[in-house]
Amino acid sequence: MAGWHIGVIGGSGLYDPGALDEAQEIPVASAFGEPSGPVVTGRLGGVRFTFVARHGAGHRLSPTHVNYRANVDVLKRCGVTDVLAISAIGSLAEDMAPGHFVAVDQIIDRTTRREGSFFGNGVVAHVPLADPVCPRLSALAADAAKAAGATLHRGGTYVAIEGPQFSTRAESHLYRSWGAQVIGMTAMPEARLAREAELPYALLGMVTDYDCWRDATADVDVTDILAVMRANADLAQTTLARLAASLPGERAASPIDTVLDHAIITPRDNWD
Ligand code: ADE
Repeated sequence: MAGWHIGVIGGSGLYDPGALDEAQEIPVASAFGEPSGPVVTGRLGGVRFTFVARHGAGHRLSPTHVNYRANVDVLKRCGVTDVLAISAIGSLAEDMAPGHFVAVDQIIDRTTRREGSFFGNGVVAHVPLADPVCPRLSALAADAAKAAGATLHRGGTYVAIEGPQFSTRAESHLYRSWGAQVIGMTAMPEARLAREAELPYALLGMVTDYDCWRDATADVDVTDILAVMRANADLAQTTLARLAASLPGERAASPIDTVLDHAIITPRDNWD
């Protein structure tokens, strides 16, 4: 059994490199282009964490233009064992109020304009994705958020929209009728790609708004989102520290670590 190395894909301002021991930027190139920004690695409570800011330094990349493949690929190349995504989400459920955290366990993909696979250039693979979130990492992250003081919901279906516009009111009602509880713009293809990279993936969402289905509140707007994100930044940071403190000393293998063993159908002789 080996140790943990947690890759974190999160919003800018989510972590303070000063909070990491031995923090350093590592030059790592991807065959899939440029990652969103610098890759920063360090230790929290003795556990290695490596970070990529999803929207780049200064939040320059819209959800459509994030290079999800490069972000996941650089984390893989850095030796990350598991990926924790931390994202702002809208709520489609009354009980998931702004300020709460949700450990998402299912995803509906409504994105349309993104590269969604590492495969396809002469090598065909079909990985299972029935459960896109790793239950072990998700439970550890949820426990850590709770220990940090967050109001935490375990489980929730996330609908990933293309954006960058928020949803129409009709769409928001439609997603609720599908049984989705939260909405965002980035979990896909991130979760698909993590699976193809054999990286267990979990997603902690920070609820920033009620989207636009709820009569009793003003429709979502970006000023409110940023205010909630700022208010929650410390909580996210404490969650990561708690996660580091709670990880078992050794990391038992996950079935996701070897998912490609049974997924690539192009015979090896035919690989380019
Ligand atoms: N991210 C945060 N709030 C959102 C919303 N209401 N819709 C899509 N993405 C979001």
